Amino acid sequence: MSFLSDARIVARALNKFQRLSAKRKGRVISQAPIEDLVADLGLEAFKRQGGLRGRKLSRFMDRYLASCTRLHHPAYMAHQVAVPVYAGALAVLVDGFTNNAMAIYEMGPAAAAVEFFVLNWMIENVGWVPAPYPREDSGTGVHAGGVLTHGGSLANLTALLAARTSLAPDSWKKGSPGDLAVLAPAESHYSVARAVGLLGIGGDALYELEVDCRERIVPDRIPAAFA
Ligand SMILES: Cc1ncc(COP(=O)(O)O)c(C=O)c1O
Repeated sequence: MSFLSDARIVARALNKFQRLSAKRKGRVISQAPIEDLVADLGLEAFKRQGGLRGRKLSRFMDRYLASCTRLHHPAYMAHQVAVPVYAGALAVLVDGFTNNAMAIYEMGPAAAAVEFFVLNWMIENVGWVPAPYPREDSGTGVHAGGVLTHGGSLANLTALLAARTSLAPDSWKKGSPGDLAVLAPAESHYSVARAVGLLGIGGDALYELEVDCRERIVPDRIPAAFA
């Protein structure tokens, strides 16, 4: 048994799962009680003896996938979670296998290069000035930058943290000042209110922005909200 043979087992099971789901085979969702699933997946035995490889891995994959929500099924229409493309899943595999964190360049130069490039691509799409390569002359020195996060909640928290640091750099030492406010539409995702709480700005400092019939912020009404 080896990585390659186990990887083949997993890839085959996923391929079948995707193919059958796309052909409307299997239920979009089946929610057995969690204790039944824990028993059915044989987790207790794996915890005690290990051995999630080979034929046991194959059986496990079948049982696991039988209780997965089928996003590739044409009848799937719940939530906003995107139908995964396999290239993305392979990227997650490469990332998991190499485990190159990007906190420091030497921990993951290739991953950092991908992140840098993708961020600049996104920045250009927004119409901002992309970051120059570190060794390049940055001209005016004013450019956008960023970090990829693994989810929207973390993205909102990170963005508001960056905004707070810009407005009140002493916050790291002294905590959030009492006169900060965040303006957001009432319909904004609840993670915005969560982030405001986490940052110590306080939920009472979250002010609603007016939106039009298509839920877009009305720019003309922003000065009134500021006031
Ligand atoms: C606009 C918006 N912001 C944030 C989130 C939270 O994203 P995540 O579940 O990835 O943390 C979502 C997803 O529900 C969202 O739709």
